[in-house]
Formats: sequence, C-alpha cells, structure tokens
Amino acid sequence: MCGIIGYVGKRKALPIILSGLHDLEYRGYDSAGVAVLERGHLSVVKCKGRINDLEKLLESRNLQACIGLGHTRWATHGKPSKVNAHPHTDCSGRITVVHNGIIENFDSLKKTLTKEGCIFKSQTDTEVIAHLIGKFYQGDIEEALRRAVKMLKGSYALAVMAKDHPDRIIGIRNDSPLVVGVGKGENFLASDTAAFLSYTNRVIFLEDKELVTITPSGIEITSLGAKRIAKKEDKILHTKEQVQKGGFKHFMFKEICQQPQIASKVISRYVTSKGQIKFKDFSIDQSVLEKFNKITIVACGTAYHAGLVGKYLIEDFTGMPVEVDLASEFRYRKPIIKDNTLMVAISQSGETADTLAAVREARKKKTKVLAICNVVGSTLTREVDSTIYIHAGPEISVASTKAYTAQLMVIYLFGLYLAGIKKTRSKKQIDKVLASLCQIPSKQKKVIESSKDIKKIARKYLHFGAFLYLGRHLNFPTALEGALKLKEISYIPAEGYAAGEMKHGPIALIDEYRAVVCVATDSFVFDKMVSNIQEILARKGKIIVVATLGNKKIRDCTKEIIYVPSVEEIFYPLLSVIALQLFAYFIADLKGYDVDKPRNLAKSVTVE
Ligand code: G6P
Repeated sequence: MCGIIGYVGKRKALPIILSGLHDLEYRGYDSAGVAVLERGHLSVVKCKGRINDLEKLLESRNLQACIGLGHTRWATHGKPSKVNAHPHTDCSGRITVVHNGIIENFDSLKKTLTKEGCIFKSQTDTEVIAHLIGKFYQGDIEEALRRAVKMLKGSYALAVMAKDHPDRIIGIRNDSPLVVGVGKGENFLASDTAAFLSYTNRVIFLEDKELVTITPSGIEITSLGAKRIAKKEDKILHTKEQVQKGGFKHFMFKEICQQPQIASKVISRYVTSKGQIKFKDFSIDQSVLEKFNKITIVACGTAYHAGLVGKYLIEDFTGMPVEVDLASEFRYRKPIIKDNTLMVAISQSGETADTLAAVREARKKKTKVLAICNVVGSTLTREVDSTIYIHAGPEISVASTKAYTAQLMVIYLFGLYLAGIKKTRSKKQIDKVLASLCQIPSKQKKVIESSKDIKKIARKYLHFGAFLYLGRHLNFPTALEGALKLKEISYIPAEGYAAGEMKHGPIALIDEYRAVVCVATDSFVFDKMVSNIQEILARKGKIIVVATLGNKKIRDCTKEIIYVPSVEEIFYPLLSVIALQLFAYFIADLKGYDVDKPRNLAKSVTVE
C-alpha cells in the first residue's frame, strides 16, 4: 500500500527520494509525489500514475534541496488523482505531510476545520492532518504534531516537514509501520526499510505513538508527553541485491525460482545435523506447548491458504484440532478462545492490519501467540510471544510465491516438532518424515525445470474467460492458492473449490468455454478426483491437470498435464503450487500485464 520516504542530510535529496520511491513501488500504488525544502521555499510536485511520470515532471525543475519527503499513494479516500496524491499542505503552505493509513474520524474533523476557515483541496483523509498541525503550530512543530495526533482516530504513519524548520523531518506512527534509517551525516524515515537500504542497513523501529525527529546529525525519539525515549538500533541483514531482479524478467519469476533454495535454507536453519528440529530464538517453553490441545491459525490471503494446509498437517501429526480463520473475520466475531489454545498468526510482511488486529484480540484474552513471519522486526513479531521466521528473503512481487512455500516448510517442521513434544509420533516416524522433507528442494527444482511445458499450456489457455480450480484434501488449499494467483495477476475470474463440492454449485458453470484446473496428484482421493474430471469432460469442460509423473490413468483423461515428481502424499502442496504459480505467471506475462504490480493490489495491506 502507500509508501513513505523522507531524507535529510548533505546530499541532494531528490535522487535519494526517487530511488526510495522506486524501491517502494512493489507495495502497490496509483499516484506519487514529493516535497522538498530549499532556501525557505517548499516545492510540492505530484501526479497520478507511476514514479516514471513523476520523474518526467521533475526533469524541468532544478531542485537542489537536501531535505525532502516522497510518497506513493494507494487510494482509499478519493480517487487516484494529482490533487489527492500526497504530500498535502496546510492552508498557510508552511507545513507538508505524507501519510499511510486511514483516519477514521476525518469527516468530523474536516467539518470542524472547514467551519474554522480551512480550505480543503482534496478528498483525502490525510489533508485534515496537515490542517490540524497548521492549526496547532505556534513555533514548536513537534508539539503541533503531538496535539494533532491526539485528535486522530485510526491508523497512521506520518512524515512531516515545515518551512520554519528546514533542518528536520518529524514523524509518528499508530498501527502503521514507520522506521528510521540511521546514516552518517544524514538520516532517513520510511514506511519500509527497502526505501533506504541502498544507503544504510542501520535501523530503528518505532513503536506506536513514538514521535521521531531526524536532522542530518541526530535522531530524537520522544513520547506524546515529550519525554525522551532511548531506543536500540537494529541491522537489516538482507542486501540491496536481494531486492533486485538479477537478470529475471520479473520479481515474481525470480521468486518462484528461488523456492528450492529457500526450502533448503529453512531445513538447514531449523534441523540440526543430528536430525533434531530446533527453532532458533523460540521462546515458548516445551512444557507450555505440551499443555495446548487446540490451535487457531489466523492469516489473510496467501498466508491463509498456508494455514489451511497447516490444518491438515498439524491435525494429522498431533491429533489436535486446528481451526483456521481469516483474520478479518476472526477479529469481529467474538471468538471463543480457551486457555489451552495456541494462536498461530501467519504473515509474510508482519504488517497486515487484520492479522495484527486478530492477534491483539487474542492477546487481550491472554492467549499465547506464535508468529510465522518473513520480515524481521515487523510489528507482528514485536507483539507476539515468539516468532519462527521463514527466511524467504525480501518478497517484492505483490503476488506471494516464495513466502507461501517457506511458510509451508515451517508449518511441516512445527507440526512435527509438536508431534514430538506431544508424543503423537515416535522419533522414528518423525525422522522418516524429515528425511523425505529434505528431498523436497530437489523435487521443487524439477517442477521449475518444466517451465517451458507449463508455458505452452498457458499460451493455449490464456484466452479463456474464466477458470475453476479443484482439489481434494491437501490439494484443496493448493487449488485455492492457484486460483488466487491467476486472478491476482491476470485478472481472469478464477475460483478455487473443494472438488467434492462441485456438484453443489460449480458444475453449473461447466461448458466448452470453461477451463478447469484439477490438482490430482497421487493420493487416497485420486480416484475421486478422476470421477470429478470425468464429470467435467462429460459436460465438455476443458481440463488441465496437475498430476504425479508416471501416473498412467490420468493420460486417459486429458492431454494437458503438468507433471510434478512423485513424493509422499503429504508433500504435494510444496510442489503442485509451484506448477500453478508458473501457470498464472505465464498467462499474465503473455497477456502483457505488469506481473509484479497488479492493478488495485498492495503487497501489504496495512489498512482494513
Ligand atoms: C496482500 C498480498 C498477498 C498476501 C496478503 C497477506 O493481499 O497481496 O500476497 O498474501 O496481503 O499478507 P501477509 O503479509 O500478511 O502475508
């Protein structure tokens, strides 16, 4: 969603801000803007569209300032347009603001401010913040911001610049990430470390309601009561190279191809040379884990599908019931969580608003929460009892791929770990599953090696107007995830369904214009899938099957087969999904779409 970058130092601010905005592009946006402050003059330039459009506008301006703000906007209040793009200024034109989040009481604030004489230019909720700060400003910009945020309800990460204070950017957050980049003779403020990683990997993560002032030589963090807060500095361990395409046409393709390597990394991080599962930095005691007899998983989007796979696996490994909830539903449905329940929150970014809200809901009830997360230092990881990192490296493509299989890898290991603690599986049984899990990366490579064949099928089917994805048992979440990938990046309506439910509705859709992707790898429900396939063929539906290499029976059903290597039944989710990611990728690419930045979508959904 929206992205913020602020720079103050001795270098020209604009190139740094623009490169930061490019590095934030992956989050999804529809307009962009910058503000720079130079010799008492505030220049604000913004436009609808891409950063490249903004750069064209800036070409004719000779802006040499050493302080400035940049923003990418993902429209919530008011359509994508130049006037609604950030930064926004107060009536006096002295104060300028960029904002991520949603101000829920903006309407009443706007009415009051309008009565008081403020003239609003945009339809955004953000503009009220600029006017509020302007209203409270009496020479002390930090104090004006403190007074302004006390009036706000909702989520915000703010960066503010004022004409009268050309040496500083101030910022504050509430339920929306904001991080300081620590430099030498220069400092940064951003919504995401990616924005300044080219310049520094030293960071300070801000907590809610902490106000930060950055100048070229200093960083001061204070509370809403203006008390100084001491903060520790962290280091970002991934490099800028990891957030570059490195010769691949798209980040999505690069990230799909990285999956075997990441699966190996997860194994080597969490499985010792003696074959024991050990989660580094895991801080929930075994004695505590032993007492849980239920698990509730909360997540959104792709992470939710990982949770669904987790349900099948953990229930199978441990005999414990596992519930999986969409975080957006969990938070509002007065959930019943008993003492003996462990919550597992799965999130690539660790910043998804609904997942955070679900976790907070559970923590109010003193529930222990474990996060499965990719981003070190993210809000989620700071609010839970313990985190198992998936170590997938930065995921840039909006459509999640490598984070999904890395989440699954961690779930397999966590399920086995619990089985060991609860003694529902013997050491020998666990060792056997682990040994097979270690073979998965090489099998995933084989799926990626069949890219050319998958592309051929994609080329044949790209003009179909709608797709149905079917799967049973462990292949059901894979069908959901395959359908999600296709609709996210190719905009083709695609629905994932449990194959057993086909007769309860989706079969009505089948005719010669409908393409049905059946995930039918070898399993105890394979024959049932074949029956579903026959029913579709009988109604002239076009079938594409993901099947196990060597399965002869499937050849009688269709010619369009994407083969995945043979593995034990429980491991197919780690392979079949890669075939479906590639299928969606090739369709979207062949259609000429912006695969990494699909329309209307955001990488991390930091507002409701
Ligand atoms: C957005 C992204 C998805 C992601 C979902 C959950 O919708 O586009 O790719 O699966 O958010 O994000 P999280 O960071 O919590 O896994």
